[in-house]
Amino acid sequence: MGRQLALTLAYLAHLLATATSSERQQHRVQQGRCSYTFILPRCEHCHPLKDFQVTNTLQRDSPPEAEPDTSQFKAGMAQKEEAFLAGEEWLQKLENFIQENVRSGMEEMKSTAVHTQTAAMLEMGTNLLSQSAEQTRKLTDVETQVLNQTSRLEIQLLEYSLFTNRLEKHILLQTQEISRLSDKNSLLEQRLLALEARYGKELQGLQSEKQQLQELVERQSRLVSQLQGELVSSTLNSTSLQRQQAALTDTVQQLLAMTNRCNGEAEAFARMHEPRTFRDCAEILRSGVTESGLYGIQASINCPSFPQVFCDMKTRGGGWTVLQHRRNGSVNFHRGWRDYKMGFGEPTGGHWLGNDIIHKLTSSQEYSLHVQLKDREGNEAFSHYDHFYIDGEDNNYSLHAEGFSGTAGRTSSLTHSGTQFSTKDRDNDRCTCKCAQLASGGWWFEACGPSNLNGIYYPSSSSVVRYNGIKWYYWKGPNLMATMTTMMVRPANF
Ligand SMILES: *[C@@H]1O[C@H](CO)[C@@H](O)[C@H](O)[C@H]1NC(C)=O
Ligand SMILES: *[C@@H]1O[C@H](CO)[C@@H](O)[C@H](O)[C@H]1NC(C)=O
Ligand SMILES: *[C@@H]1O[C@H](CO)[C@@H](O)[C@H](O)[C@H]1NC(C)=O
Ligand SMILES: *[C@@H]1O[C@H](CO)[C@@H](O)[C@H](O)[C@H]1NC(C)=O
Repeated sequence: MGRQLALTLAYLAHLLATATSSERQQHRVQQGRCSYTFILPRCEHCHPLKDFQVTNTLQRDSPPEAEPDTSQFKAGMAQKEEAFLAGEEWLQKLENFIQENVRSGMEEMKSTAVHTQTAAMLEMGTNLLSQSAEQTRKLTDVETQVLNQTSRLEIQLLEYSLFTNRLEKHILLQTQEISRLSDKNSLLEQRLLALEARYGKELQGLQSEKQQLQELVERQSRLVSQLQGELVSSTLNSTSLQRQQAALTDTVQQLLAMTNRCNGEAEAFARMHEPRTFRDCAEILRSGVTESGLYGIQASINCPSFPQVFCDMKTRGGGWTVLQHRRNGSVNFHRGWRDYKMGFGEPTGGHWLGNDIIHKLTSSQEYSLHVQLKDREGNEAFSHYDHFYIDGEDNNYSLHAEGFSGTAGRTSSLTHSGTQFSTKDRDNDRCTCKCAQLASGGWWFEACGPSNLNGIYYPSSSSVVRYNGIKWYYWKGPNLMATMTTMMVRPANF
C-alpha cells in the first residue's frame, strides 16, 4: 500500500513536472477518503485515441428511471439521456487514458526516482555544505573569542607582572630599610646594654643609700619615741608649770590691784594739782579759784566746746555762772531767735550766754537762779529761785522757775512754769499781739507778762515811761530804770 502510494505520488510529481509549463484541464476523483486530482493533457501534444469507447458499466449500476407521462418530460428525458451517454463515453476514454499513462508513467517513475534520489543527495550535500559553513563560522567565532580571552589574559598577565615588579621593588626597599633598622636596633641594643650596666651600678648605689636611709629612719624613730617619752614627762612638768603660772597670775593680779590703788591716789593727786575741765563756776570755785572773771567750762559731756563764761565768785558765797548781764546800752538786745539760741555780747560786758548752753547747763543737774538788779539811784535788790531750768529748743526753751524768794518784789516777776521763749521773729506768747516786738528783746512772755530783763536799755537821763524797756514789775512797776541786771545760776545744793 505504502509503496503504491509512493509510486502514485512519484507519478503525480512527474506529471506536475511535465505540466508546469502550460495550463492543463484538471479532474478530481474521490475514492474513499482519498481524492485524486487529474490534470488532462492538451490536445496538440496528445494523439487522439482511436479506440476510445465509453463503457456503460457505471451507467448500468443505477437502475433506469420510471418513464414520465407527459411528452415534455419525454423530451427532457431524451436530452438528459444524450448528455449521460456523452459523459459515459468520456469516462471510458479517461479510464483508458489512465491505464495507458500509468504504464508509461511507471517507466518514467523509475527514472524520476533516480532523479529524485540524486536531487535528495544533492540537497543533502548542499545541506551538509551549509552546515559545515555554519560550523566553520561558529568555530571562527569561538576562535576570536578565545583570542580575545587570551589577549585579555595576556594584558592581565602584563599588568600582574608590572604589579609584581613594583612589589619586588617595594620589598627590596623594605628589606633595605629592615636591614637599616636592624643596624640601628643593634646600636640601640648596645646602648641599652651600656645603660643597663650603668643603671645597674646606680641602682646598687641607690640600694646602699636606701639601706643607709632606712638605718637613719630607724635611728630617728628611736629618737622620736624617746622624744615622745620626754614629751609625756614634759607635759606632766607643764601641768605643774601651769599651776605655778596660776599662782604667779594671782600674785600679778594682787600687784595690779595694788598699783591701781596707787594710780587712784595718783589721779586724785593729779586732779587736785593739774588743770582740768569744769562743768560750771561752782566747780571752778571748789577747785580753789576765788577770783571773779572769765573761765572756760564744759557745759555738758555731750558738748565738748569750752565756752567762756563770767564767774561771779563774790556774791553770796560766789560760784555763780552768769547767764545775762547788762551794764550799759552798748549791746543791742533786740535780736532774733538764732542770736538768743547761740548767745551774743562779751561775757565781760553786756551779754546773753545762749539758750542752748543755758538749757544744757541747767538740765544737767539742779540749779538755782539768782537775779541781781540795780536801779538808777543805786538801790540793789535780788530775786532768788531755788529751782531753775529751761527746756531745749524743741520745747522753745520753756521756763521753769520755782522756790521764789528775794527783795525785788514780794512776788515773782518771772512768769509761771512752761512759758515759751519768744523773739521778734519767733512769737510763742499767749498774746494776740507780738510781745517780743512790742516789748523788744527775747524773753519768756506770757500775754507779755511782768518782766523783761532784755528790753531796751534806756540811758539814765530819760524820764519818759516806756513799755519796751527793762522791766521787773513787782519791784519797780512797769517802768524800771535799771542800770544793772545780772542773771546767774549755781548748783542748788551749793
Ligand atoms: C572582547 O570581548 C569584550 C566583551 O566580551 C568586548 O567588549 C571587546 O571589544 C572584545 N575585544 C576584542 C579585541 O574583540
Ligand atoms: C621635769 O621636772 C623635773 C624636776 O621637776 C626635771 O628633773 C626634769 O628634767 C623635767 N623634765 C623635763 C622634760 O623638763
Ligand atoms: C559799756 O561797758 C563796756 C564794758 O564795761 C565798756 O567797754 C564800754 O565802753 C561801755 N560802753 C558805754 C557806751 O558806756
Ligand atoms: C515752738 O514754736 C513754734 C513757732 O515759733 C511752734 O510752731 C511750735 O509748736 C512751738 N513748740 C512747742 C513745743 O510748742
